[in-house]
Amino acid sequence: MDRRLRLRDGREVLIRTARVEDAKGLLELIDSIARERRWLLNTEAYWGVEGQRRWIGSVLSSGGTMLVAEGPDGRLVGWADVSRSLAILVHHVGTLGMGVRRDYRGVGLGSALLEAITEEARELGVERLELVVRAGNGAAIGLYERHGWRFEGRSPRAFKLDDEYEDRIQMGLWLGPEE
Ligand SMILES: CC(C)(COP(=O)(O)OP(=O)(O)OC[C@H]1O[C@@H](n2cnc3c(N)ncnc32)[C@H](O)[C@@H]1OP(=O)(O)O)[C@@H](O)C(=O)NCCC(=O)NCCS
Repeated sequence: MDRRLRLRDGREVLIRTARVEDAKGLLELIDSIARERRWLLNTEAYWGVEGQRRWIGSVLSSGGTMLVAEGPDGRLVGWADVSRSLAILVHHVGTLGMGVRRDYRGVGLGSALLEAITEEARELGVERLELVVRAGNGAAIGLYERHGWRFEGRSPRAFKLDDEYEDRIQMGLWLGPEE
């Protein structure tokens, strides 16, 4: 995938397939979002560049896909990944993760990444997408709902940060044949 996109505020980004060489930039992006503490399941990207390199490699080699959005200066400003298990019973399922750098939010990049990664997952034969999201993450839940994702469950107090509990929301999107 290689797609140029003009955001609602006029800035241009390139959405393209991630490469193992993106490890450093991707780690820096995910770390910056994790450190906001409000959205992801980690508060820092503790796995380092080598871990990030392995992560990209394993997503791509297990039938999943990963996209990055590159800003005008080459800095990564967003990513989306669909990872797949090799276990036979769940190989038709992909798990979604994504994020957009703080100063690039609210101008359509999240929607574009979600549409692009869904299209790629469908082409790879993924029949069901699923994800977990923090109950307080209204922007993400709203985005997924607008793209057809269904609410599938809530696990009470499944997350805990700084002695505060938060529910875990499960969502899913069916991409396979209709019954
Ligand atoms: C969730 C996220 C990826 C959305 O990306 P984005 O680039 O801001 O998304 P967009 O600009 O395409 O906006 C998507 C929609 O969300 C809406 N939105 C923005 N903030 C919102 C909020 N607080 N509550 C509800 N909807 C909100 C926008 O209005 C937009 O709707 P529209 O397309 O109908 O106008 C981004 O907020 C993000 O990276 N958050 C931190 C990381 C994260 O939460 N990742 C997902 C973990 S499960």
